[in-house]
Amino acid sequence: MSLDVRTVSTPCYVCEEEKLRHNLQIFDQVQQATGCHIILALKGFAMFSVFPMIRQVLKTTTASSLNEARLGFEEFGQRVHLYAPAYKAEEFDDLMFYSEHIVFNSFSQWKRFKDQIHRAEHPIRCGIRINPEYGEVETDLYNPCAPHSRLGVPVKEFRFDELEGITGLHFHSLCGNNSDTLERTLEVVERHYGEVLHQMEWVNFGGGHHITRSDYDINRLCNIVKRVQETYDVEVYLEPGEAVGWQAGVLVASVLDIIHNDMDIALLDISAAAHMPDCLEMPYTPEIRGGGTVDQYPHPYRLTGTTCLAGDVIGDFSFPQPLQVGDKIVLEDMLHYTMVKNTNFNGVELPSIAIWSDTEGLRTVRKFGYNDYKSRLS
Ligand SMILES: Cc1ncc(COP(=O)(O)O)c(C=O)c1O
Repeated sequence: MSLDVRTVSTPCYVCEEEKLRHNLQIFDQVQQATGCHIILALKGFAMFSVFPMIRQVLKTTTASSLNEARLGFEEFGQRVHLYAPAYKAEEFDDLMFYSEHIVFNSFSQWKRFKDQIHRAEHPIRCGIRINPEYGEVETDLYNPCAPHSRLGVPVKEFRFDELEGITGLHFHSLCGNNSDTLERTLEVVERHYGEVLHQMEWVNFGGGHHITRSDYDINRLCNIVKRVQETYDVEVYLEPGEAVGWQAGVLVASVLDIIHNDMDIALLDISAAAHMPDCLEMPYTPEIRGGGTVDQYPHPYRLTGTTCLAGDVIGDFSFPQPLQVGDKIVLEDMLHYTMVKNTNFNGVELPSIAIWSDTEGLRTVRKFGYNDYKSRLS
């Protein structure tokens, strides 16, 4: 039984439990086949009401701030892997408390905090993020290997003499890529850091692996992981965010008005700017359930948001039947990089969060209101 949108009060992000379970089965298969560890990147997907399900397969989370570290510790129930471009001295004791791995973005940060790490009350494994200076990401906003990037130590800046206490290397240079990109990236990493990898206990391949996408080459990934583990005698970590929530849920909206300005324009009770900013930043156009590209069906519409931002436009689509005020519109693949990035811009309400299960139907786990908006201001 698929999601019954009639039961959804809009706007609402709905996680479709069976689809999330399907993604987790794929991660399980990769872990079983290789012995690698896949951990959830909270920056991409932090819907903690489904952590009990995710926890059955993924060992822990990776955090990029004190808030994420605390959420991972409290809601996932495990110490996190931590990486942020820079740490604040006044937060570092708390960060250590919540972390089992800490990755430093520079040797200067490593030197600043290494003595403090030695005094931690539990073991913490430390790593350095390297910038492989090889990327296949076309949008600069998402390319950690763009010129003058601040993410990871560039090859020329690497301090082979400062590795005492460092047990792992981390790189993150993929964004929605397949495993052939990982293979080419590793060729570069191994060329520069092969000797260092032999001294390490672990290596983290970052996120950006589209493991759960239907055309992803899982066998190639498994072969890469096994080869790296055997060659360097290291544990391998992968930390996807997007691939965890990939096509595992939707954003449901309602049509508020239909106007005409050389074309039909539908105003929805959601906002591209506030609720799915990647649509404007990437830019990325979602698919609409039951709808199609602008020429596909007889009734074309521009779907737009409800804020006063002129560019709050989701995209141009078409439908088999004319839209009516009150119709529900279902935007596909809306779990990752949406609820973790959304805002109350224009005072618009945040979409509720719900879980759809084929056996239990719809369960709304969170509604937002005026106090959520007001509490961010003063
Ligand atoms: C260091 C790091 N790890 C993991 C991720 C997750 O990437 P994705 O959600 O594309 O898998 C990101 C995303 O920016 C990242 O910066």
